[in-house]
Amino acid sequence: MTGSLFRAVAELGLRDIRKAFGETHVLKGVDLSVRDGELVVLVGPSGCGKSTLLRTIAGLELPDSGTLHIGGRDVTKAAPKDRDIGMVFQSYALYPHLTVRDNLAFGLRLRKTDDATVKERVDGVAKMLGLAPLLDRYPRQLSGGQRQRVAMGRAIARRPALFLFDEPLSNLDAALRAEVRVEIKRLHAELSATMVYVTHDQVEAMTLADKLVVLNGGLVEQEGPPLEIYERPATKFVAGFLGSPAMNFLEGTVADGRVRGEGFDLAVAGVQPGKVTVGIRPHDVHLDASGGMKLVVEVVEAMGFETYAHGKLGGVPFVARLEGDHRPGVGETISLSVTAGHLHLFDESDRRISVAPPASPKGPLAEDASLEVS
Ligand SMILES: Nc1ncnc2c1ncn2[C@@H]1O[C@H](COP(=O)(O)OP(=O)(O)OP(=O)(O)O)[C@@H](O)[C@H]1O
Ligand SMILES: [Mg+2]
Repeated sequence: MTGSLFRAVAELGLRDIRKAFGETHVLKGVDLSVRDGELVVLVGPSGCGKSTLLRTIAGLELPDSGTLHIGGRDVTKAAPKDRDIGMVFQSYALYPHLTVRDNLAFGLRLRKTDDATVKERVDGVAKMLGLAPLLDRYPRQLSGGQRQRVAMGRAIARRPALFLFDEPLSNLDAALRAEVRVEIKRLHAELSATMVYVTHDQVEAMTLADKLVVLNGGLVEQEGPPLEIYERPATKFVAGFLGSPAMNFLEGTVADGRVRGEGFDLAVAGVQPGKVTVGIRPHDVHLDASGGMKLVVEVVEAMGFETYAHGKLGGVPFVARLEGDHRPGVGETISLSVTAGHLHLFDESDRRISVAPPASPKGPLAEDASLEVS
């Protein structure tokens, strides 16, 4: 395999990185560790500092304080060219007057690489990315997906120790995005390269990441394996940010082993009495005549295999995903239950409260049921 010839150890370590533009404090003490060969995906709302963080790692911005190590080397103040980084941006920024071959070779020529090595690298990368038949074309003669592959190829040809991607697929249509996303995953496996990848796309975040990092207001809010974060969001912010359609939130009060509020009354086990925010994902409810939630339906979106019912629960907007082709009528009130174990609770400072697993009289947990308040 052409790509596996190089392996520079490239673990990345950021400690307390701070960066302000004038009065705007963008990065407020970011700590981030990326293991050698790991693919870390960074997500967060627009303006939270994702691009600034990537540009700081690349050396295009200097942090006001904090340290940055790549492969154990302190590069906090190193020039971009001395950091051995390949960066791929949202706009592919290919040279329009150069062929695909010359675009791929550009970074190598800049570094005075000898012709034989340039040819070997360019041919290898072209083969890996399926660009071999396109080497003599100009960028304007390529599709969006092909151009983005050339942009990636240009980064790969240099064999950097670390790859940075800033929303590389956001200019592509849905089908191409899916295709190039799989390509990136394959590339990552093939090159076992260290990568930091910024995206707005939930699917990319969930499927590409070894580790997902959620940034909020210039700080890391939560990091971990993507499914773990999705299933156990540490804060209300993370819970609302991950998942589509977004998690529903209801204000409630816990007392006597139940959480109650306008339009709902649900069992919760082992939770201190008090005010809470209840979080329920649209996918985690089902129709149940004796269910503890009453949704007044306002809009119905039927997709055939599933239906989204939008409406109000106790006067608050709420979305429920119903399986199959059940279509409630507009104005109808439907009763819903939460799928066991999928109720999220947040305290008054929006931090997650652990909810004990539900008692299940028929399930394998039956013998533990005496431990639960139900
Ligand atoms: N060179 C600059 N001068 C002044 N302010 C800047 C500069 N670069 C970024 N900012 C500000 O820093 C904040 C973070 O910007 P950044 O581009 O890092 O956000 P982002 O998380 O990448 O957002 P998006 O998801 O929209 O790409 C924004 O408020 C932005 O206006
Ligand atoms: Mg950005």
